[in-house]
This record gives sequence, structure tokens and C-alpha cells, in this order.
Amino acid sequence: VSLGVRDRFDLTGRVAVITGGAGLLGVRHAEAIAELGGSCVLADIDGDRAEARAAEVRERFGTACRGFATDITDPESVQGLLSFTLGEFGRVDILVNNAAINPKREVSDRGNFSRLELFPLEQWQTELAVGLTGAFLCSQVIGTELARRESGVILNIASDLGVIAPDQRIYREEGLPEDQQQVKPVTYSVVKHGLIGLTRYLSTYWADRGVRVNSISPGGVAADQDEAFVKRLTNLIPMGRMARDDEYKAAVAFLVSDASSYMTGTNLVIDGGRTVW
Ligand SMILES: NC(=O)c1ccc[n+]([C@@H]2O[C@H](COP(=O)([O-])OP(=O)(O)OC[C@H]3O[C@@H](n4cnc5c(N)ncnc54)[C@H](O)[C@@H]3O)[C@@H](O)[C@H]2O)c1
Repeated sequence: VSLGVRDRFDLTGRVAVITGGAGLLGVRHAEAIAELGGSCVLADIDGDRAEARAAEVRERFGTACRGFATDITDPESVQGLLSFTLGEFGRVDILVNNAAINPKREVSDRGNFSRLELFPLEQWQTELAVGLTGAFLCSQVIGTELARRESGVILNIASDLGVIAPDQRIYREEGLPEDQQQVKPVTYSVVKHGLIGLTRYLSTYWADRGVRVNSISPGGVAADQDEAFVKRLTNLIPMGRMARDDEYKAAVAFLVSDASSYMTGTNLVIDGGRTVW
């Protein structure tokens, strides 16, 4: 029997775990899944914010949605997340590896710590622990459950900077000495390229177990950034603008549903054309 196109997007009865689910895009992923009838667990280190966001999703879409305090860098915490999800919903179908650390700006008289020469080892370890190790642990724990059931999808949230190098010129501030200049940290490139590697690895590893694994590479979302910075960035984007925070929802819906049933191991680039230039 061949399903209609709309039916292929239907997520009724499916259960999704979204890491970093209390953040800007995590909630948008949840909205996409809820709109199509799916249930969600918003797993976030900030459990209160996750539950508040989950309540908003429940109210808006009338589907089940729960927040759950999880530290994805801790194997026991991730195991707890799986137990909670299975206890609450009896199943899990979808894992969205979305959590990442948004590094804060740190400048001292020694210079700007975003720069490679000064980048603190501890910061490297913290960002890799969440962005990469966290995605590995969630894939290991929840992916194993998907493979056991012989059905499920994993979606990794990478970035356009998982495909190209950052153009450090756009982060420069006129008049600052070289060692004070902000750069996009090395960890961002490593985490995002790593996630695309993890995507390819898992996609072949579990291909015969009914688990599909894909990633998306979103471009930067407009969020009140400095005007001069936005101008420098959008000059690098053929479409001439940053993304709105709701412009990844349909792609998420596509990749977590049967609409993409013949797709695995792919990185879907959604960047206003930035990586084409
Ligand atoms: N916003 C953008 O412009 C943009 C562009 C491209 C890619 N992305 C990627 O999309 C994803 C979501 O981005 P966002 O803008 O919503 O970020 P965000 O900072 O708003 O959300 C990230 C969430 O992860 C959570 N988190 C941090 N450490 C955690 C841990 N140890 N365990 C569990 N949760 C943890 C944070 O509490 C936060 O709620 C990230 O992977 C980001 O790199 C974002």
C-alpha cells in the first residue's frame, strides 16, 4: 500500500527525545513534531526551563510533551532519560541530538580566550563533552533501544560550520588589537564536523536494524545580533539574510518522519546558500 505524501509526515503515536530541548531551536523542533501528532521529551540540563517550554507545547498543540532534567555528558543521566521516556510513553522512536554549548565572550588583559593560541583546555573539554560526547552517549543509549525495536530515527543538529570553515573576518571589531579580536572558537568547527561524522558512522552501523540517521546543517538564526556583524555575515549568504527560527521546522519534520524513509547518512544543508559561495 502506498501512503499519500501528507500521511508520510504523520507522527501520531511516535515519541521523540530532544536534547537541549529548552533552547531556542529545541523548542521549534518540538513544535514541528507536536504539530504532526508526536509526543516529546525535552531533555535539558535546565530542567525547570525544559518543563516550562514543554507546558507551552502541550497547551498549543494538545499533544503530550514533558521536560526532563538531563546532563547528556553523564551516562547515568542519559540512562535516566531513557527510563523516564519509556516509563512515561512506553516507547521511543526519535532522537534529536540538538544540545550544544553557546560559549560566552571572555576577554582579559592576556587577550581574547576564543583565540586558538589562548583557548583554554577546560573550555575545549566542556564544549566537546556536550556537543560530541553527549551526542555519542544519547545515540548509544537511545539508539540501542531503537535498534532493538528495529525502527527509529536519529537527527543530529550540526551547522553550516560543520561543512565550511568560519570566516573569522566577520567577527572582527574595528580598532581592537589582534590578540583582543574575537574568533569563532575551534571547538565549534570540531563539534559540528564531528556530528556529521557521527551521522555517517551510525547510519551505516544501524542501517540493517531499521534505524535511519541524518543531520541538518542550519545557518545562523537572526536573534538581535549586532547590526554590523549581521551585515558582514549576510554578505556571505546568497539569499542575503539570516534564518528565522521557524525555518528549520519543516526539515526536521521531513527527517524524523517516514517522509524521508529512503534517506540515511545524509547532511541536509539549510543555509540560504552560504556554503555554495
Ligand atoms: N541558533 C543558531 O543560529 C544555530 C545555527 C546553526 C546551528 N545551531 C545548532 O542548533 C542547536 C540548538 O541551538 P540553539 O540556538 O537552540 O542553542 P541554545 O543555547 O538556545 O540551546 C542549547 C540548549 O542545550 C542545553 N544544554 C547545554 N548543556 C547541556 C547538557 N550537558 N545536557 C543537556 N542539555 C544541555 C542548554 O541548557 C540549552 O537549553 C545547537 O546544536 C546549535 O549549535 C544553532
